[in-house]
Amino acid sequence: MTFQKVGAIALVVTVIGLVIYFIQRPTVLLVEACPPACVPVDALYRRSDVSVEQRIEDLLNRMTETEKIGQLILVEKNSVKVLDDVTRYGIGAMLSGGGAVPSPNTPATWLDMVRSFQERAQNTRLGIPLLYGVDAIHGHSNVIGATVFPHAIGLGASHDADLVYRVAQTTAQEMAATGIHWNFSPDLDVVQDSRWGRVYETFGSSTDMVTSLGRAYVDGTQSFSSSGTRVIATAKHYMGAGAMAWGTSSNKDFKIDQGITTVDEATLRRVHLPPFRAAVDAGASVVLVGLNSWDGLKLAANHYLVTDVLKGELGFNGIVVSDWYGVYEIPGGEYHAVVTAMNAGVDMVMLPYDYKPFVGYVRRAVQNGDISPERLDDAVRRILRAKFAAGLFENASADGSMLASVGSAEHRELAREAVRKSLVSLQNNNRTLPLSSRVDRILVAGSAAHNLGRQMGGWTVEWQGIDGNWVPGTTILDGIKMSISSSTVVDYDLSGSFSTSSGKAAIGIAVVGEEPYAEGKGDNAHPSLSTEDLETIRLVRATSKKLVVVIVSGRPLELPPESTEWDAIIAVWLPGSEGEGVADVLFGTYPFTGMLPLEWPR
Ligand code: BGC
Ligand code: BGC
Repeated sequence: MTFQKVGAIALVVTVIGLVIYFIQRPTVLLVEACPPACVPVDALYRRSDVSVEQRIEDLLNRMTETEKIGQLILVEKNSVKVLDDVTRYGIGAMLSGGGAVPSPNTPATWLDMVRSFQERAQNTRLGIPLLYGVDAIHGHSNVIGATVFPHAIGLGASHDADLVYRVAQTTAQEMAATGIHWNFSPDLDVVQDSRWGRVYETFGSSTDMVTSLGRAYVDGTQSFSSSGTRVIATAKHYMGAGAMAWGTSSNKDFKIDQGITTVDEATLRRVHLPPFRAAVDAGASVVLVGLNSWDGLKLAANHYLVTDVLKGELGFNGIVVSDWYGVYEIPGGEYHAVVTAMNAGVDMVMLPYDYKPFVGYVRRAVQNGDISPERLDDAVRRILRAKFAAGLFENASADGSMLASVGSAEHRELAREAVRKSLVSLQNNNRTLPLSSRVDRILVAGSAAHNLGRQMGGWTVEWQGIDGNWVPGTTILDGIKMSISSSTVVDYDLSGSFSTSSGKAAIGIAVVGEEPYAEGKGDNAHPSLSTEDLETIRLVRATSKKLVVVIVSGRPLELPPESTEWDAIIAVWLPGSEGEGVADVLFGTYPFTGMLPLEWPR
């Protein structure tokens, strides 16, 4: 290579480098650091006796463009490698995705972690507090030691709005105890296809039921208050994610999740919109737009659905937040994607990774006129409104005084009640149920009999859940043992190999079902019992007089023809940490009251 060529290449590389640098370069010094003491304490926006709208205007008028852009950021905590960036970029919001936990994972370390982010957010010129969000979708379930409630599908089976209200409120309390005021819940998808790996995150397939339980969840969450702070709820995934078509996923590893919603507008409005309307009416502070597409556009790019329908028709004045990396899935490059999403009506962007280029894109777009100053201000107003609603300007840092409520006996009692109310009797030949707790011998077997990970499902400590007994709680086997008379013997074997030398047992209980899963991985063309589970059931059948099959699953599973011969079949969904709730109903201490939240095909 000639000397000139090397020189030319070096020049080109330098120029490209400089161009990239100037595009992405941080706004020289970004947000002015300042300990809380220098925040203008007498300013109108600091005064809780002034109306929220006045406080918003006062604060907005004081903010620089950089400070405004910082408010649009929603970054996952694992992507903030330099803690002081929370101050320097004026980061408005952070989250823990499934499994983004502190180490060690305890309620106290969560509180410390969130506090350290919160302090940095407030060490800025205006001291704007941070919103920290989590998927507390069945209790504060990223936290080891939290109460793990049944997943939403089980609450759907309870058909009990008052119960849902109390579960949501209690979840909010456990969150607030760890300094967290934002729940990415409830899921208001009206599910149409059991093959979707997110069925269990929904209340079911009926619009009316999702509407009433969703509203109860929003009310319960936002009713919790302590020391002037509240927890805000998120209605998700706006909209139509329950009706994506199989095989249309935009993610090559998935089948239906992140796919295309193919229903027409009339159906979208009739089936999928009402729960969101109710959530907006109930004052939900946030709506999260899904990763699905409708009418040829990803939801985050869908101006019609986000701005015209949600903000216009429904009158939503809270935050529209995009879902995980969803904005960058809009085709046409990152700059174009950010501009499109903001103009479609997205206010806050779940990046969730690098915030630095994002800051550059928005600055450039505002300077070029691709995003108007009015649109930027509108987005910031909405974000501030939610922060005022959460009371964060009054008191953003929890003091640890509520930590003991996380996983308390009282909360676990509520979870046990929720389990009882979620059970559905699918078959009860010759009145097999309720079982007698006074028989000589009960056999218990199956992959989910003594496995908290399976009972809890996905979104528990790990995004996809963890198989096995890693998280505190009571298994279904434990619950059975606690419910029987002192003279009854319980024999447990995972796979169901029992001796028949002393004759058949009076009762055999096979607890079987799905392994934990979440988004994407849970998409399943044929949800059914595994061959191992069927083999276990066969073995228990052969060694007991009465056979009860307990199905632990996030959705209806196809049952084999021989299942008509099983004496009883019950669906317990994903009950969470309190396995005793299953035994409470099996042995008749409480009746079956649950009803199917979606069709269970035979
Ligand atoms: C999911 C949302 C969730 C978010 C944050 C996304 O992938 O679709 O439901 O709230 O991640 O964990
Ligand atoms: C996160 C989840 C998120 C998912 C989306 C995972 O790594 O933990 O919260 O929903 O990615 O792809």
